[in-house]
Amino acid sequence: MEPALTQFGTQMSNLTGVRAIMKDIIETLRAGQGQEFINLSAGNPVILPEVEQLWRDCTADLLASPEYGEVVCRYGSSQGYQPLVEAIAKDFNQRYGLNLSDRNILITPGSQSIYFYAANSFGGYTTDGQLKQIVLPLSPDYTGYGGVSLTPEAVFAYKPALEINEKAHRFKYRPDFSQLTITEDTGCVIFSRPCNPTGNVLTDEEVKKIAALAVPLEVPVLIDSAYAPPFPALNFTEMAPVFGENILHCMSLSKAGLPGERIGIAIGEPELVGVLESFQTNMCIHSPRYGQAIAARAINSGALANLATSVIRPHYQKKFDVVEDTLDQAMPKDMPWFLHRGEGAIFAWLWLRDLPITDWEFYQELKQVGVIVVPGSSFFPGLREEWSHKHQCLRISLTASDEEIEIGMKRLAQVAQQVYQRSTVVV
Ligand SMILES: Cc1ncc(COP(=O)(O)O)c(C=O)c1O
Repeated sequence: MEPALTQFGTQMSNLTGVRAIMKDIIETLRAGQGQEFINLSAGNPVILPEVEQLWRDCTADLLASPEYGEVVCRYGSSQGYQPLVEAIAKDFNQRYGLNLSDRNILITPGSQSIYFYAANSFGGYTTDGQLKQIVLPLSPDYTGYGGVSLTPEAVFAYKPALEINEKAHRFKYRPDFSQLTITEDTGCVIFSRPCNPTGNVLTDEEVKKIAALAVPLEVPVLIDSAYAPPFPALNFTEMAPVFGENILHCMSLSKAGLPGERIGIAIGEPELVGVLESFQTNMCIHSPRYGQAIAARAINSGALANLATSVIRPHYQKKFDVVEDTLDQAMPKDMPWFLHRGEGAIFAWLWLRDLPITDWEFYQELKQVGVIVVPGSSFFPGLREEWSHKHQCLRISLTASDEEIEIGMKRLAQVAQQVYQRSTVVV
């Protein structure tokens, strides 16, 4: 049967960005039965034993408590499970000197849903037909933003400025404030910090500048803090969460070891949080409560924030060091390769300037030598203008073992060398 789909039905049945590539990767892995692939494409966090144990302990505590029935056998409020809401308010008030009450907090089934609610509440067509944009101030950014709007033409991204250190083979994206504008046509602003896919961390000043541009027009700014402190604290450089009247601070417990439980947290002014809460009530009533109940325990005891800095952060930071050290040794000095500064998240981002083939073709060549990365072009949602850079980057996951990363980077260096040499011969 092929039911007729509406505009929204068609839009939502498309796989966007990296999800389309993941299909190719899964098929490659399946077809290559017997062939050993080094898979550096995964976005799924590593199961770290200490983190798994924490969730196991919290679950045992919940099971043994009289609260269990209340948690799983009853509906609750759309806003979230009260003990978790209170735990977050208490933790953030103490940690950051805030004055949050439960009206400032919303728990959602994963943080992806926050972006869906916001993108379709603040972005898209207004009742009088005006198109409100969902502005991504710095592209590349999280591929998932490409799929959150029911009105894809609303997603609009800005090309960044590049800060390049030629000699060190490093680079960093910066927001290009000479281009970035927030206008009457802006519905909301979204960016990730630390950034998936690049590991970039916008400075506190850059974030405040973006937020300040949006204040006069009362435009909400969503700061996607899926990798930020206090948990999972996957920042390898100093950063402070930035709060403000038009800021929605959005968190996820996925990289803190609970991706399967789907827990997202939005913190902001009650007027903004209330809009998202109503959306959630209409869509799914509320987030599942079992995950929320164990999260409340891990936050209240302080164990989650401790493990974030003592276990989760060092694990991935060390992996980035392996990528960096291996590339520094294996990549020829005279080749124009540039690794993005590793400031956080669980990925490394490599730019191969003047690459003679596309990122997709390079990905195919790497597959031939048993290494899978993600071609970078899927991480530029909303960037309309043609830009060769979009086809010259790769995302390398830090979820593999040290050995796999080392072998993978050495093979990548060989393939890159061959590809650049081939083009010199042709010229
Ligand atoms: C930057 C960023 N934002 C949001 C998400 C979605 O996370 P969640 O599992 O909370 O929906 C991800 C997932 O990888 C991400 O990398």
